[in-house]
Amino acid sequence: MATEIKVIVCGFGRVGREFAKLVHEKAERMRTAYSLDAVIVGIGELNGSLHHTRGLDAAKTADAFERAGSFADHPSLKADWQGLDLIRSAQADVLIETTPTEVRTGEPALSHIREALARGIHVVSANKGPFIRAYRELTGLAREKKVSLKISAAAAAALPTIDVAETCLAGAEILEVEGVLNGTTNFILTRMRTNGRNYEEALAEAQALGIAETDPTLDVEGFDTANKLALITNVCMGADLTPEDVERTGIAGMSLAEVQSASAAGKIMRLVGAARRDEAGRVSARVAPALLPPDHPLAGVEGAEKGITYTSDTMDRVTVVGGKSDPRGAAAALLKDFINIYRHS
Ligand code: HSE
Repeated sequence: MATEIKVIVCGFGRVGREFAKLVHEKAERMRTAYSLDAVIVGIGELNGSLHHTRGLDAAKTADAFERAGSFADHPSLKADWQGLDLIRSAQADVLIETTPTEVRTGEPALSHIREALARGIHVVSANKGPFIRAYRELTGLAREKKVSLKISAAAAAALPTIDVAETCLAGAEILEVEGVLNGTTNFILTRMRTNGRNYEEALAEAQALGIAETDPTLDVEGFDTANKLALITNVCMGADLTPEDVERTGIAGMSLAEVQSASAAGKIMRLVGAARRDEAGRVSARVAPALLPPDHPLAGVEGAEKGITYTSDTMDRVTVVGGKSDPRGAAAALLKDFINIYRHS
C-alpha cells in the first residue's frame, strides 16, 4: 500500500513543470518501487496559485500553462494567493521550491523555505539563493523541526555532488573539490574545440537547447559555477563561503584561436571551480578557465555534461561525471531528493 504524500510546487517555470510531468510519468514506478503516491495539491506562481486538496492533474496543468503562459481560468485558481499563502494553507508534506534563483537576497524562495520548515514541511529545492545566503540557518531550522531539507537540484542537478560527499564519502575529510559545474560553458568550450564553432555560435546553440540561464551572463561569466561551488563547499567542507568570496573569471568572448591552440598543445580547456582547504584549515575557492591535461579526471567531461572530483584524506580522489543539464534532468534531481526523504526516514 503506497503512502500518499501531499506536495506543493512553488514556481512553475520549466523545472517546476517538468517535475509535475515526471510525477505523472513515474507514478507507477513510485508506487511499486518506493510505496509512494505523490499528489500535487498546490502550485504557486506569481499571478496566483492553484490549490486542490484531493490533487491536481499536474501534467495536464503543465501542458496548459505552457500553452497559455498562465493558469488562465483554471477551476482551482486562487488568484490572490502567492507561494506563502499556499504553504500556509495547503497542509502539504513536501514543498518543491523551483522559483528562479535570486542570489542577492534569496527571495522569494528564502521566505517560502523558512515558512515550510517552521511548519514541519520537508523541503526539496532547485533554487540556490536561500542556501547561498542562509544555509546554516535553514539546516538548523530543519534539524529543530525534524524535517528534511534537500538541495541536490540546486547543486549541479542531475550530477550527484552533495549526495556523493554526504553518503559515499561519509567519515572522510574533503580536502579539495574541483568541478566542471556549468553545462552551458562546457558545451560552448566543447563545440569550439571539436566543431570549430565561434563563441557566439556555440552560446546560441546552448541557449536553443535550454541549458543556458535566461540571462546567459550568469553562465559565461562564471557566476553559476561560483554559486554551485559555494553551496557544495559549504555543505561538504563545512566552509562558510558566499559567491562573492569565490575568485571568478568566466569564458565570455573566449576566442576560437585560444581554445584550439590549447587543444593543439594537448590540453583541454574547461571552466573549473575549485576549492581547497589550506594547512590552517581555511577554505578558498576560485572559478577560472583551466587547461587540463588529458589524464585529468575532468578532461573527458564533454558537451553539456558536468563532473566533480573530491579529494579526501582517506579515500583519495573520487570523480563523478555526467547528468543531464536540462530542465528534465533538474526535475529528476528533485524527484530523487523527494524519494530519498522517505527511503531514509
Ligand atoms: N545554466 C546552468 C548550466 C543550469 O548550464 O549548468 C542550471 O544551473
